[in-house]
Amino acid sequence: MDRNSRRDFVKILGGVAGVLSISPSIETVAKELDKKLYHIPQIPFDEDVTKNEDYWVWVQQSYTISPNVINFNNGGVSPQPVIVQDALDRYNRLSNEAPSYYMWRTLDEGREGLRLKLADLAGTSPEEIAINRNATEALETVIFGLNLKKGDEVVLTKQDYPNMIHAWRQREKRDGIVLKWINLDLPSEDIEYLVRKYEEQMTDKTKVVMITHLINWCGQLLPAKQISQMIRRKNKNIYILIDGAHSFAHFDFKIPDLEGDFFGTSLHKWLSAPFGTGMMYIKKERISEIWTMFASDNPQSSDIRKFEVLGTRSFPTEMATGYAVNFHNAIGSLRKQKRLHYLKNYWVEKAMNIKGFSVQTSLHLDFSGAIATFALKGMTVADLSSALFKKARIHTTGINWENINGVRVTPHVYTQLKDLDRLVDTIYHISKEI
Ligand SMILES: Cc1ncc(COP(=O)(O)O)c(C=O)c1O
Repeated sequence: MDRNSRRDFVKILGGVAGVLSISPSIETVAKELDKKLYHIPQIPFDEDVTKNEDYWVWVQQSYTISPNVINFNNGGVSPQPVIVQDALDRYNRLSNEAPSYYMWRTLDEGREGLRLKLADLAGTSPEEIAINRNATEALETVIFGLNLKKGDEVVLTKQDYPNMIHAWRQREKRDGIVLKWINLDLPSEDIEYLVRKYEEQMTDKTKVVMITHLINWCGQLLPAKQISQMIRRKNKNIYILIDGAHSFAHFDFKIPDLEGDFFGTSLHKWLSAPFGTGMMYIKKERISEIWTMFASDNPQSSDIRKFEVLGTRSFPTEMATGYAVNFHNAIGSLRKQKRLHYLKNYWVEKAMNIKGFSVQTSLHLDFSGAIATFALKGMTVADLSSALFKKARIHTTGINWENINGVRVTPHVYTQLKDLDRLVDTIYHISKEI
C-alpha cells in the first residue's frame, strides 16, 4: 500500500475518534476501538478484489458468524462486525456509569459527527440527513408528513413494502387520497418498460410517486434516476419518495443521483449497523413542507433536526453506527457492490443447471445485487425453504407476495463460497427427490 492510500485509511478510521474527542474517557474508548480496525489488509483502494478470497477472509473474520447455521437471510437484517458490537457494548457500559450524564451531555453530541459521516457516504449535505430507527420510520414520516388533500393521487406498486403500502392505505381511508397501482412484471432488464409502468399511472392529479429502489421480494433494482427524470419532465412539483431500505450501502451510488425529494433507509441492513438504526434524507428545500411524526417546537422549520425529537433513545447505538460506516468505508462501496453481485451470480449460475430450477432475479449488474429468489418446479415455497434448513441448516426466507413466489437467498460480504456451494448442492439433492 502506498503512503497516500495508507493515509486515506488512517483518515477514514480515525474519523470517529475525532468526532468523539469530547471527554477523555470517551476518547479512550474510541482509540481502543479504532486500534482493532487497523488489521485491514494492505490493498490499494483501486485494486479489484471481487474474486480475491484472501481479501474476503479478513471480512469474514470481522464478523461473529454462527458455525451452526448458514445465514442466507441477510436481506431481513444484517449481523454487525465485531468492531460495531464492541462499540455498542463499550458505549452502553459507559452510559450505565451515569446514564443522563454520558448520554445527554456527551454521547448526544456524537450525533452531529455521525450525521457528517452518513452525509458523506450518502453524498448529501449533513443538513439533509436525519438519524432515526429504521426505514419504516423514515418513510412513514414522509408519508404522514406530506400535505395532501382528498382526490390527490399517489403512484405506487404492488411490489412495494407492506409497511409503506399500509401507511398509504391509512391515508386513503383517512384523507381520501387516491392510490394508483402499478403491477410490475419482474425480473426486468428493460428500462423503458419500467419507466413506462410509472408513467402510465400518472395524471394531472398526481402529487406523489413512490419508488422502491431495490425490491425486497426478488432483488430487482429499479432505474430510480430514469423514473425520476420522467416524472420531473412531466411536472417538477411532484414529490418523489424513494424507499432505499435495501439499496443504501449495497450499491455504489449517491442519494442525489436518484433525483428524488425523499429517501429512507435502514442502517441495520446493508451497512451492518446496530439493530434499530435508520436514516432519512430530505432535500433541503422540502424540509419545511414536511410535518414531523413526533412534534417539535417548530414543526414547519427547515432544520432537519426537527425529525429527531423521538424522546429518549439509544445513544450507544448511534455511536456504534459510526463504526459501521468506518467498516463499510474500509471495504469501499464499489468493492462491496461488486462482491455482493458476484456472490449472487456465483450460486445462481451454477444452480441454473439443475432441472426444474428457475430464478426471479436478473443477473445483470445494472438490475440486481446480492438478493435472488428462486423456485423448484413441483415444490411449494414453504417446503423448499424448510428442506434447505433440514438438510443443511441453510436459513432462507419464503416469499409469496403478489406475482413473486420463491425462496429468497441473500448472502452478505462475510459469506464464504463454500457455503454457496453447499446451497447449490442441497438444491440439487432436493430436486432429485421431487
Ligand atoms: C423495501 C423495504 N422497505 C422498507 C423496509 C422496512 O425496513 P425496517 O423494518 O428496517 O423498517 C424493508 C424491510 O425489509 C424493505 O425490504
